[in-house]
Amino acid sequence: MAQEIKRLDIDAYDEIIRVWAESGLPFKLKGRDSLEAVAKEMANPNCAFFGLFLDEKMIGVVIANFDGRRGWINRLAIDPDQRGLGLAAKLIEISEEFLRSAGAVVICALIEEINYPSISCFQNSGYTCEPNIKYFTKRPSPDA
Ligand SMILES: CC(C)(COP(=O)(O)OP(=O)(O)OC[C@H]1O[C@@H](n2cnc3c(N)ncnc32)[C@H](O)[C@@H]1OP(=O)(O)O)[C@@H](O)C(=O)NCCC(=O)NCCS
Repeated sequence: MAQEIKRLDIDAYDEIIRVWAESGLPFKLKGRDSLEAVAKEMANPNCAFFGLFLDEKMIGVVIANFDGRRGWINRLAIDPDQRGLGLAAKLIEISEEFLRSAGAVVICALIEEINYPSISCFQNSGYTCEPNIKYFTKRPSPDA
Protein backbone atom coordinates (compact mmCIF):
# COMPACT_ATOMS: atom_id res chain seq x y z
CA MET A 1 0.00 0.00 0.00
CA ALA A 2 1.24 3.49 -0.86
CA GLN A 3 1.94 5.49 2.28
CA GLU A 4 2.38 9.26 2.34
CA ILE A 5 2.47 12.07 4.91
CA LYS A 6 1.26 15.48 3.78
CA ARG A 7 0.98 18.85 5.46
CA LEU A 8 -2.74 19.66 5.49
CA ASP A 9 -4.61 22.81 4.62
CA ILE A 10 -8.14 23.81 5.46
CA ASP A 11 -9.53 21.83 2.50
CA ALA A 12 -8.79 18.73 4.60
CA TYR A 13 -10.98 19.94 7.50
CA ASP A 14 -13.82 17.41 7.03
CA GLU A 15 -11.34 14.54 6.71
CA ILE A 16 -9.48 15.63 9.84
CA ILE A 17 -12.74 15.62 11.79
CA ARG A 18 -13.65 12.22 10.31
CA VAL A 19 -10.34 10.68 11.43
CA TRP A 20 -10.65 12.16 14.93
CA ALA A 21 -14.26 10.93 15.19
CA GLU A 22 -13.43 7.41 13.98
CA SER A 23 -10.46 7.33 16.34
CA GLY A 24 -12.63 8.20 19.33
CA LEU A 25 -10.68 11.38 19.98
CA PRO A 26 -12.83 14.12 21.54
CA PHE A 27 -13.01 17.42 19.68
CA LYS A 28 -14.78 20.75 20.15
CA LEU A 29 -16.67 21.77 17.03
CA LYS A 30 -18.00 24.90 18.74
CA GLY A 31 -14.60 25.82 20.10
CA ARG A 32 -10.99 25.30 19.06
CA ASP A 33 -11.89 22.67 16.45
CA SER A 34 -14.40 24.77 14.53
CA LEU A 35 -13.62 25.40 10.85
CA GLU A 36 -12.74 29.01 11.63
CA ALA A 37 -10.48 28.14 14.56
CA VAL A 38 -8.65 25.43 12.62
CA ALA A 39 -8.19 27.74 9.60
CA LYS A 40 -6.69 30.36 11.89
CA GLU A 41 -4.42 27.81 13.54
CA MET A 42 -3.23 26.53 10.15
CA ALA A 43 -2.38 30.09 9.10
CA ASN A 44 0.12 30.27 11.97
CA PRO A 45 3.54 29.39 10.52
CA ASN A 46 4.52 27.75 13.81
CA CYS A 47 1.63 25.29 13.59
CA ALA A 48 1.29 22.37 11.19
CA PHE A 49 -1.36 19.73 10.69
CA PHE A 50 -0.08 16.54 9.10
CA GLY A 51 -2.12 13.73 7.60
CA LEU A 52 -0.99 10.17 7.04
CA PHE A 53 -2.47 8.61 3.90
CA LEU A 54 -2.71 4.98 2.86
CA ASP A 55 -3.61 4.67 -0.79
CA GLU A 56 -4.76 8.30 -0.65
CA LYS A 57 -7.17 7.70 2.25
CA MET A 58 -6.38 9.74 5.35
CA ILE A 59 -5.89 7.30 8.22
CA GLY A 60 -3.91 9.45 10.66
CA VAL A 61 -3.67 13.05 11.84
CA VAL A 62 -1.48 15.12 14.14
CA ILE A 63 -1.06 18.79 15.06
CA ALA A 64 2.41 20.13 15.80
CA ASN A 65 2.74 23.60 17.24
CA PHE A 66 5.59 25.63 18.67
CA ASP A 67 4.46 28.13 21.27
CA GLY A 68 7.77 29.99 21.33
CA ARG A 69 8.97 28.04 24.35
CA ARG A 70 8.05 24.40 23.77
CA GLY A 71 6.95 22.26 20.90
CA TRP A 72 3.67 20.41 21.33
CA ILE A 73 2.30 17.32 19.66
CA ASN A 74 -1.48 17.35 19.81
CA ARG A 75 -4.47 15.35 18.65
CA LEU A 76 -2.51 12.41 17.36
CA ALA A 77 -4.92 9.83 15.96
CA ILE A 78 -4.69 6.67 13.88
CA ASP A 79 -7.65 4.87 12.34
CA PRO A 80 -8.63 1.93 14.64
CA ASP A 81 -8.12 -0.55 11.76
CA GLN A 82 -4.48 0.54 11.36
CA ARG A 83 -3.28 0.50 14.97
CA GLY A 84 -0.36 -1.39 16.40
CA LEU A 85 1.67 -0.95 13.21
CA GLY A 86 3.86 1.89 14.44
CA LEU A 87 2.16 4.43 12.16
CA ALA A 88 1.72 7.04 14.89
CA ALA A 89 5.50 7.11 15.28
CA LYS A 90 5.77 8.41 11.72
CA LEU A 91 3.48 11.32 12.56
CA ILE A 92 5.45 11.97 15.74
CA GLU A 93 8.68 11.98 13.72
CA ILE A 94 7.48 14.49 11.13
CA SER A 95 6.05 16.65 13.93
CA GLU A 96 9.44 16.62 15.66
CA GLU A 97 11.19 17.66 12.44
CA PHE A 98 8.75 20.53 11.99
CA LEU A 99 9.01 21.65 15.62
CA ARG A 100 12.81 21.56 15.63
CA SER A 101 12.91 23.60 12.44
CA ALA A 102 10.54 26.11 14.09
CA GLY A 103 12.98 26.44 17.01
CA ALA A 104 11.69 24.01 19.61
CA VAL A 105 14.23 22.26 21.81
CA VAL A 106 11.84 20.52 24.20
CA ILE A 107 8.94 18.65 22.61
CA CYS A 108 5.94 17.60 24.72
CA ALA A 109 2.58 15.89 24.65
CA LEU A 110 -0.30 15.79 27.14
CA ILE A 111 -1.70 12.29 27.58
CA GLU A 112 -4.48 11.09 29.90
CA GLU A 113 -3.03 8.70 32.45
CA ILE A 114 -5.28 5.81 31.35
CA ASN A 115 -4.41 6.16 27.65
CA TYR A 116 -1.98 3.25 27.63
CA PRO A 117 -1.65 2.94 23.81
CA SER A 118 -0.68 6.60 23.56
CA ILE A 119 1.69 6.39 26.53
CA SER A 120 3.35 3.35 25.00
CA CYS A 121 3.56 4.98 21.60
CA PHE A 122 5.29 8.11 22.96
CA GLN A 123 7.61 6.08 25.18
CA ASN A 124 8.61 4.00 22.17
CA SER A 125 9.43 7.28 20.38
CA GLY A 126 11.79 8.27 23.21
CA TYR A 127 9.51 10.42 25.42
CA THR A 128 9.80 10.37 29.21
CA CYS A 129 6.77 10.70 31.49
CA GLU A 130 6.78 13.49 34.11
CA PRO A 131 4.36 11.96 36.65
CA ASN A 132 4.53 14.86 39.13
CA ILE A 133 2.91 17.38 36.79
CA LYS A 134 -0.84 18.14 36.86
CA TYR A 135 -2.60 19.84 33.96
CA PHE A 136 -4.47 23.05 34.90
CA THR A 137 -6.75 24.97 32.53
CA LYS A 138 -8.89 28.11 32.59
CA ARG A 139 -11.69 28.18 30.00
CA PRO A 140 -14.37 30.71 29.12
CA SER A 141 -16.78 27.79 28.52
CA PRO A 142 -16.77 23.97 28.44
CA ASP A 143 -16.88 24.17 24.59
CA ALA A 144 -13.67 26.20 24.33
C1 LIG B 1 -2.43 6.50 20.40
C2 LIG B 1 -2.47 6.08 18.92
C3 LIG B 1 -2.32 7.30 18.04
C4 LIG B 1 -1.31 5.11 18.67
O1 LIG B 1 -1.29 4.80 17.29
P1 LIG B 1 -0.59 3.46 16.72
O2 LIG B 1 -0.15 3.75 15.32
O3 LIG B 1 -1.49 2.31 16.91
O4 LIG B 1 0.67 3.33 17.67
P2 LIG B 1 1.63 2.06 17.84
O5 LIG B 1 1.52 1.16 16.66
O6 LIG B 1 2.95 2.60 18.22
O7 LIG B 1 1.01 1.28 19.08
C5 LIG B 1 1.00 1.92 20.36
C6 LIG B 1 0.37 1.01 21.37
O8 LIG B 1 -0.99 0.74 21.02
C7 LIG B 1 -1.34 -0.56 21.52
N1 LIG B 1 -1.84 -1.38 20.41
C8 LIG B 1 -1.17 -2.27 19.65
N2 LIG B 1 -1.99 -2.80 18.74
C9 LIG B 1 -3.17 -2.23 18.91
C10 LIG B 1 -4.42 -2.38 18.27
N3 LIG B 1 -4.58 -3.21 17.25
N4 LIG B 1 -5.47 -1.60 18.69
C11 LIG B 1 -5.31 -0.75 19.71
N5 LIG B 1 -4.12 -0.56 20.37
C12 LIG B 1 -3.08 -1.29 19.96
C13 LIG B 1 -0.12 -1.17 22.15
O9 LIG B 1 -0.18 -0.86 23.54
C14 LIG B 1 0.99 -0.37 21.48
O10 LIG B 1 2.14 -0.27 22.26
P3 LIG B 1 3.29 -1.40 22.11
O11 LIG B 1 3.69 -1.44 20.69
O12 LIG B 1 4.40 -0.88 23.00
O13 LIG B 1 2.68 -2.68 22.57
C15 LIG B 1 -3.79 5.34 18.60
O14 LIG B 1 -3.98 4.29 19.53
C16 LIG B 1 -5.01 6.26 18.62
O15 LIG B 1 -5.36 6.89 17.62
N6 LIG B 1 -5.71 6.32 19.78
C17 LIG B 1 -6.92 7.14 19.91
C18 LIG B 1 -6.61 8.63 19.92
C19 LIG B 1 -5.65 8.98 21.04
O16 LIG B 1 -5.82 8.57 22.17
N7 LIG B 1 -4.62 9.76 20.69
C20 LIG B 1 -3.59 10.19 21.59
C21 LIG B 1 -3.97 11.43 22.31
S1 LIG B 1 -2.70 11.89 23.47
